[in-house]
Amino acid sequence: MSQGADPLDGPWTIRPFDMEDYPAVLRLWQTAGAGVTIRPSDSSEEVAKKCARDGDLFLVAEQEGQVIGVIMGAWDGRRGWLHHLAVDAAHRGRGVGSSLVAAVEEGLRAKGCLKVNLLVARANQQARALYRRLGYDEMSDFLPMGKEL
Ligand SMILES: CC(C)(COP(=O)(O)OP(=O)(O)OC[C@H]1O[C@@H](n2cnc3c(N)ncnc32)[C@H](O)[C@@H]1OP(=O)(O)O)[C@@H](O)C(=O)NCCC(=O)NCCS
Repeated sequence: MSQGADPLDGPWTIRPFDMEDYPAVLRLWQTAGAGVTIRPSDSSEEVAKKCARDGDLFLVAEQEGQVIGVIMGAWDGRRGWLHHLAVDAAHRGRGVGSSLVAAVEEGLRAKGCLKVNLLVARANQQARALYRRLGYDEMSDFLPMGKEL
């Protein structure tokens, strides 16, 4: 899909997630730290449902056959959403995270999406700085709400 290169660590590519990536992706999410919380929606059954709906926005970054980054983009017909962005700690600071966000934005634009939202923990200063740099504004007038079904 798209490509980046690091002179020290070799080239990496971005491609759509495949269910065969699930164990590696789950490991990335589980080891990402406080920025990613594993929920029932992250089980393989639930992830398969997501793939059937709009799997083209669920992307991984791969280097030499190893999954080094992931982002779950989504499109609800009105807003785009970014979920569970994570990059392997050994590969951070190489632009992988920014490229994954840009790739989802490109896919969302192609679907006619006008605005992308995401939830980020207040304490996650690194991710907040990254998103701000990529043009995301904090919507401090709003309080996120949710309900388990
Ligand atoms: C947030 C996260 C996805 C960013 O991924 P990334 O691939 O490091 O992102 P990028 O390389 O595109 O950008 C990281 C920024 O940190 C800087 N950086 C430099 N060295 C770094 C390092 N060793 N580790 C992390 N960041 C570094 C980068 O230069 C860049 O800032 P700049 O472009 O303004 O200079 C990654 O830190 C992560 O997986 N965090 C844990 C999970 C998480 O919090 N996810 C967000 C959920 S909302």
